[in-house]
Amino acid sequence: MPASKSTSPKTDPRPATPSSFLSVTDGRTGTSYQIPIQDGAIHATELHQIRSGPDDYGLLSYDPSFANTASCRSAITFIDGDRGILRYRGYPIEELAASKSYLEVSYLLIHGNLPGKSQLEEWVHSITYHTMLHENVQKFMDGFHHDAHPMGMMVSTLAALSTFYPDAKNISDEHTRYQQAYRLIAKVPTVAAFAHRHSVGMPYIHPSNDLTYTENFLAMMYRPSWTTQYTPNPVLAKALDTLFVLHADHEQNCSSNAMRAVGSSHADPYSCAAAAAAALYGPLHGGANEQVVRMLQEIGTKDHVPQLIRQVKEGKRLLMGFGHRIYKNYDPRARLIQQLAEEVFEVTGRNPLIDVALALEKVALEDEYFISRKLYPNVDFYSGIIYQAMGFPMDMFPVLFAIPRMTGWLAQWMEGVQDPEQKIARPRQIYVGPGERHLEVGVKTPVRRPSRTVVARRKEPS
Ligand code: ACO
Repeated sequence: MPASKSTSPKTDPRPATPSSFLSVTDGRTGTSYQIPIQDGAIHATELHQIRSGPDDYGLLSYDPSFANTASCRSAITFIDGDRGILRYRGYPIEELAASKSYLEVSYLLIHGNLPGKSQLEEWVHSITYHTMLHENVQKFMDGFHHDAHPMGMMVSTLAALSTFYPDAKNISDEHTRYQQAYRLIAKVPTVAAFAHRHSVGMPYIHPSNDLTYTENFLAMMYRPSWTTQYTPNPVLAKALDTLFVLHADHEQNCSSNAMRAVGSSHADPYSCAAAAAAALYGPLHGGANEQVVRMLQEIGTKDHVPQLIRQVKEGKRLLMGFGHRIYKNYDPRARLIQQLAEEVFEVTGRNPLIDVALALEKVALEDEYFISRKLYPNVDFYSGIIYQAMGFPMDMFPVLFAIPRMTGWLAQWMEGVQDPEQKIARPRQIYVGPGERHLEVGVKTPVRRPSRTVVARRKEPS
């Protein structure tokens, strides 16, 4: 197709200027095309016009892990991975972590701006008064086996919440969307704490409205019973609040992408959040913090660090908590968490794993294997060490990630469902299977009947 035939995508409100075109020539046909460039990107559907002949569907872009594909326009979180920069709604993460609470940051991510005094009071009140779980949700959680992983319980319970709030299906109504945001941000610590209490066989501790978000979570986790007094340590509650700020959003990561993809079919936000939590569960994403501590325990002492580095370089294992799809520099959150660890250790005593982690980081950052691949510590490298010092069991680590990330998932979901450019997420594929083939006419597949042994077994008492 000649150059004059290329057009801007219909949804693009800003016309491309003449200089912002990508000129390409298809080597198969010799035809040249001019494809508009906007915001540093070409619209993938523009490639559709590039055909080698009438039977050709048109050129596809192949990007199996979205390594170089923008799936949306977003105004929520900005990352410059080469320079190690992370901003929520324009504010550097370092400034937010130093002076804003998690609930202020969650308001910022959801609404786009920091709250004024009365807006914050209203927001905190709305979150605080939605923390209770329906009694039947509690019964649902009782049904899990005693050794169920708390993250599995979290994923399932989030999905189950959708059945308790059928109004959530009305995703085109703004009030309904905010209602579910209050509920999800409020209830996720309760679900997390109940999952833990169930797994250790302790009575559930219901939320207290006179405590802060993280104090309440610590009380639901650790208070022995309703009749026993428990005062959450303010330093630990504050440190956890800062960790929640650092984990609140991270643009189009694996779990946010799951949230948006499921949301694109107009499913309710509880079902979307269950899908997002399932994505977070994996050891390459939010499950990495648990794996880091297991790895550090296995290393044991600093003198075993070279052995582990050798195994990683031989391709036998990954250095968990290292590497990132976007950061090709130090993850700014990892630096802040490393500093936070010292404050926590003032209260809890030093977790000896921090010294193993620091030694491991030092060796890795000086090693050619990691330097050439731009592998640096990510958010998960130090977070698990703090969680362990605070007394959280290891299988709660991914759950601790899911609590604050709920804000990010909701902000991403709200933006996605209101974006006029978004349609149902439905990627293309490159078919590599057999060409057309046919069943042999007249050959019937024999009907399989149960063997006598199987029938006999069925009669045995179970
Ligand atoms: N240890 C050893 N080598 C690594 C690591 C690692 N942690 N991460 C990447 N590499 C190597 C790869 O083997 C590859 O080497 P090669 O070029 O010789 O084949 C190269 O670095 C590039 O890695 P990719 O796998 O292409 O990077 P990708 O962007 O696909 O993966 C990921 C990113 C999944 C985070 C990866 O770095 C990893 O598995 N890290 C360990 C798990 C982890 O810490 N996950 C948490 C991420 S942060 C978060 O989700 C909150």
